[in-house]
Amino acid sequence: MKISVVGLGFVGLSLASFLATKGFNVIGIDNNDEKRGKIIQGQSPFFEPRLQNLLRKALKMKLEISDDFSLIKDSDFIFVTVGTPQKEDGSIELSFIKKAAKSIAKNINGGKNKPIILIKSTVVPGTIENNIMPILEKNSKKQVDKEFGLISNPEFLQEGSAVKNTKYPHLIVLGGSSTKFLEKTNKFFLSLHPNTPIIKTNYQTAELIKYANNSFLATKISFINQIANICERVPNSNIDDIAKAIGMDPRIGNLFLNAGPGFGGSCLPKDLKAIINFAKKTGSDSTFLNAVEDVNKTQINNIISIIKKSLGTLERKRITVLGISFKPNTDDIRESKSIELIKKLINNKANVIVHDPKSQKNTYQIFGNKIEYSDTLVDSIKKSQCMIIMTEWNEYRDINNSLLKNMKKKLVIDCRRILSDQKLDAEYYAIGIGKD
Ligand code: UDX
Repeated sequence: MKISVVGLGFVGLSLASFLATKGFNVIGIDNNDEKRGKIIQGQSPFFEPRLQNLLRKALKMKLEISDDFSLIKDSDFIFVTVGTPQKEDGSIELSFIKKAAKSIAKNINGGKNKPIILIKSTVVPGTIENNIMPILEKNSKKQVDKEFGLISNPEFLQEGSAVKNTKYPHLIVLGGSSTKFLEKTNKFFLSLHPNTPIIKTNYQTAELIKYANNSFLATKISFINQIANICERVPNSNIDDIAKAIGMDPRIGNLFLNAGPGFGGSCLPKDLKAIINFAKKTGSDSTFLNAVEDVNKTQINNIISIIKKSLGTLERKRITVLGISFKPNTDDIRESKSIELIKKLINNKANVIVHDPKSQKNTYQIFGNKIEYSDTLVDSIKKSQCMIIMTEWNEYRDINNSLLKNMKKKLVIDCRRILSDQKLDAEYYAIGIGKD
């Protein structure tokens, strides 16, 4: 069986590598020369635990990397995993996926088999039928559901767990209009993931499932963050105990109730904006989703207020930001709340110094010499007047009194409560913990 994967980001590269290690002939297509160069050498172009090992195994087996779409000819399955980035108004940019669809169509044109094209990229309801299907039919001169299959197959993997989620997905969603192609795809996924439930539905519902899923995750986070803000005004109250308790109610569930500085990353903020924009276009009300977004916007202001309460003006104050990636185990800083925080600190004329085990390089691309960078945790807090833990990297869990001695003023703001059990000789604030 031959499988092609178009777009080698987190989703595409993990999938292509996984499928190759399962013994399929896999063609991975990407138009970024630098990225391809690294992948061919067995290097992951971004930091993702376990991916490099899987990629190296895959390259020794049957994974071929190229920018040449003609190689996808005669594929049985073609996965589309290109990005659908956010536009200014919150809607999604379709130019990459349209271009990919055109190239795919042109290259299945002469083929004799009936390939199945699976759209993994996140797109708003109606996109597959109204935008992608016509491009595929026009440029391939083939008819959907007769000469080729077209399936919506949204992806739920999390950065930092991309390999695990690709090997063991919790759910597979297939949306389409042909029972024959849906069944064929179902059989293929069953052979790969015999224990994973599969939901078969139509295009629009499958497209909307992805947005409903991500906006619900965002909802849980904004909900717990709002309760955390209330906790901060209730002496001695503790958001972690509250999250643990409500998480034991099976109707609520214990995941995604970790209060913090707000959600970031390349998906949750973008998908929430896109569904709000989509709701508006369809004339639906989005009051609730707007509130989820609004809560996420206020978290950083709360952090700034805490610092100001203790330091007064921030002008020329040396402030350390620990953790820039939007979560641990990734070097991805897209929509990271740390970026928003640093921008606000700069606007307040603070001297900012940052530390992150993996994303200093990416951070430099945004701030250049406007801030300082430290390779070590110790140096980053030397003479600092405030330390803000933004990302729960494991190494920050070891911060203790002897390390704090190097600070000029021992003000610690712990947005992830990783030090809340330690007796720190410092002015300590944590999101979601009420001062007595
Ligand atoms: C998300 C979805 O989880 C995934 O299913 C989808 O396919 C892509 O988008 P990802 O972007 O990798 O995945 O990040 P995720 O692990 O969901 O975290 C998003 C943000 O929420 C991070 O900034 C994280 O710190 C924050 N978060 C998450 C919390 O603040 N509290 C939580 O309890 C969970």
